[in-house]
Amino acid sequence: MRIAFIGGGNMATALIGSLFASRHSVDRIQVADPGLDARQGLQKRWPVHCFERATDAIKGMDAIVLAVKPQVLPLVLDEIGDLVSDEQLVISIVAGIHTSQIAAKLKSAAPIVRTMPNTPALIGLGITGMYAPISCNLKQRQLTQNLMESAGEVVWLERESLLDVVTAVSGSGPAYFYYLVESLRDAGVRQGLPADVAARLALYTAYGASTMAVQSKADVTELRQRVTTRGGTTEAAMNIFEAGHFTELVNSAIAAATRRGQELSEEGMQP
Ligand SMILES: NC(=O)c1ccc[n+]([C@@H]2O[C@H](COP(=O)([O-])OP(=O)(O)OC[C@H]3O[C@@H](n4cnc5c(N)ncnc54)[C@H](OP(=O)(O)O)[C@@H]3O)[C@@H](O)[C@H]2O)c1
Repeated sequence: MRIAFIGGGNMATALIGSLFASRHSVDRIQVADPGLDARQGLQKRWPVHCFERATDAIKGMDAIVLAVKPQVLPLVLDEIGDLVSDEQLVISIVAGIHTSQIAAKLKSAAPIVRTMPNTPALIGLGITGMYAPISCNLKQRQLTQNLMESAGEVVWLERESLLDVVTAVSGSGPAYFYYLVESLRDAGVRQGLPADVAARLALYTAYGASTMAVQSKADVTELRQRVTTRGGTTEAAMNIFEAGHFTELVNSAIAAATRRGQELSEEGMQP
């Protein structure tokens, strides 16, 4: 498998690192990035071949991973649009740009898979939502899955529009958890804990609880109920969450993020 990454920033670095660390065999990785520092940084860490221009990096590659910022993607596609062949698999990790918008910029009928990873991919604990049009065959889907699985879990979506929901839930999701940890930390301080102690308690509770939930056969509702004794301290706190309509608040927040994702797609690259 020969893979070209267009853009050698955070997400590309995470995926490249994960690929080298995983069991999947990669014959060659080429990266295009205009930044000398980015290219040298990558070459110091892994045996990758770096280029300044995308047009040089994609030659002879089996897959092309689009890993630039959304506003840069039209420029990249203007550069490579005529050069991508029918046989090259295009994998986009670019937020909010539809497969049809990418296809419209390609001269060939190259298969395109769209993915939405999240930042824990940087430590191999990401989760990626993926969508492939029916024109993509099983081998192309499997290749994309192998690539994204090297950085964590993957889920396939049947409709491309669901990627806006994935963006709202897991793409933006790490920020919600950080916000909860911040709130828990600050609440502990208000109840008298030293700031550093409150910060460790909040963070390690999040880490322990999520690790335990991932490893457990029980679902999160059951795990929550196990901690919540009738008339106890957890129930006292849960009653306040419920009185404040916590579930409805989360619903509204995710609906707002989904809507914003749809708007950004519409404002983004025009087909
Ligand atoms: N980070 C996330 O949480 C996340 C999650 C899901 C999806 N994504 C998507 O992943 C994509 C990449 O995000 P990122 O965080 O990795 O961004 P990033 O760190 O800014 O990486 C993008 C890289 O592309 C380079 N670049 C700019 N113009 C280029 C060109 N013409 N050809 C080749 N490379 C070029 C940039 O160089 P310069 O810095 O020199 O401009 C930069 O090194 C985005 O589209 C984002 O929507 C990110």
